[in-house]
Amino acid sequence: MTRQFPEGFWFGSATAAYQIEGAVAEDGRGPSIWDVFSHTPGKTAGGDNGDIACDHYHRWHEDVELMKDLGLDAYRFSISWPRVQPTGRGAPNSRGLDFYKRLVDALREAGIRPVATLYHWDLPQALQEDGGWTRRATAEAFGEYARLVAESLGDNVAMWTTLNEPWCSAFLGHASGVHAPGITDPQSALRAAHHLNLAHGLAAQSIHQALGVDTPVSVTLNLHVARPRDPGSPDDRAAVKQIETLGNDVWLAPMLEGQMSGELIAMTRAVTDWSFVREGDLAVIHQPLASLGINYYSTMTVCRSREGDAVSSGGHGEAAHSPWVGCGDVSFVAPTGPLTAMGWNIDPAGLRDVLVSTAKRFPGLELFVTENGMAAPDRPDASGVVHDDDRIAYLEAHLGAVLDAVDEGAPVGGYFVWSLMDNFEWSWGYDRRFGIIRVDYDSYRRIPKDSFRYYQRLIARRSLS
Ligand code: NOJ
Repeated sequence: MTRQFPEGFWFGSATAAYQIEGAVAEDGRGPSIWDVFSHTPGKTAGGDNGDIACDHYHRWHEDVELMKDLGLDAYRFSISWPRVQPTGRGAPNSRGLDFYKRLVDALREAGIRPVATLYHWDLPQALQEDGGWTRRATAEAFGEYARLVAESLGDNVAMWTTLNEPWCSAFLGHASGVHAPGITDPQSALRAAHHLNLAHGLAAQSIHQALGVDTPVSVTLNLHVARPRDPGSPDDRAAVKQIETLGNDVWLAPMLEGQMSGELIAMTRAVTDWSFVREGDLAVIHQPLASLGINYYSTMTVCRSREGDAVSSGGHGEAAHSPWVGCGDVSFVAPTGPLTAMGWNIDPAGLRDVLVSTAKRFPGLELFVTENGMAAPDRPDASGVVHDDDRIAYLEAHLGAVLDAVDEGAPVGGYFVWSLMDNFEWSWGYDRRFGIIRVDYDSYRRIPKDSFRYYQRLIARRSLS
């Protein structure tokens, strides 16, 4: 049976600055927290870092040609704050901005909509030295940075995304410490969460002021889909609620409802009284959004902890400290196969579920799947081509789940494959490959995988068959 995607649906793919650009010391770019973190011994697999990454900073032209060949409707990339403002404050660095102007112009020329994310985790290190996201001043600086970028790139950007997965910035960065800046302090994580919310609101205001209120502004969240180990157990269902509160409502309630979740305040009482939330903050955070981006990879199964359960990070790497602040009585059930190379389970129904439930909770809000994809143990053949049937099956199943959600009434405007090309997978380094294009890290040659050809055919047909 042929299943058609809705009229005007955007087929896209996504990347992020630090994961692909390299050129970390070129054209006036300042250091970011990820430069410092990845150069700290023991923080990334094999000591990998983003110094060269995919060398996209020098090869962006070739990369846009590949996107054109693929037939993309939209390309989601991120702007490196320390390229635009090397210390996170003050006059813009025009050479940094020019890189993105050239990219956006080339995308437009190729008929590809640019979807620009303002923050995909690379905070200028100078701001970190002043306290980073634990301080309100960082949110204010982000609002200024957003204004500079909006004024410079203007209407050429088809959709602005303020933050990518702020959950990871707050909780992997400040509670489990497996991401930069590597802090392991639950209170700092909650302060960071609030200031990221505030940063989102201030950036949305800046973009709307600079370019007009009709300019589409969005945010991308990694909404967690948790299932109870025993659906009949009220305790296990309460554990699910805790995960949804700390994983999702920490953003959704302030950004889309202008309030803080009462459950969140109750759950985190032992950690903070939230007195860093000032009067008026929630109104700033609650800005009109054109759409909500959802990144989706897998689901998790949770239960109420019993004595002796090991601390688990819930799929976010081996960590001595849990990122799940306030969820100390929740345990994560080890996922059963099939698993991806990240050790994540494959559960396309979770994507349908999160799209349908989000659409029901926020009627009228357009949704985009801003990331979905799979790390696989790619094995190139003699000519370097990867026959990644496992990735093709994953993409096909998840695109089917998107259509299931559309059939159930979810207004899904587009889907972005993570990722256009293999890249620096944060603390996992280069070993985990998510690309539909293989990057040969010796020559930096790009080699489309079978999944690229699959996606290319699908985009041409605009249907699943
Ligand atoms: C989410 C992040 O936004 C992206 O940077 C990362 O590479 C993928 N997930 C895969 O883990």
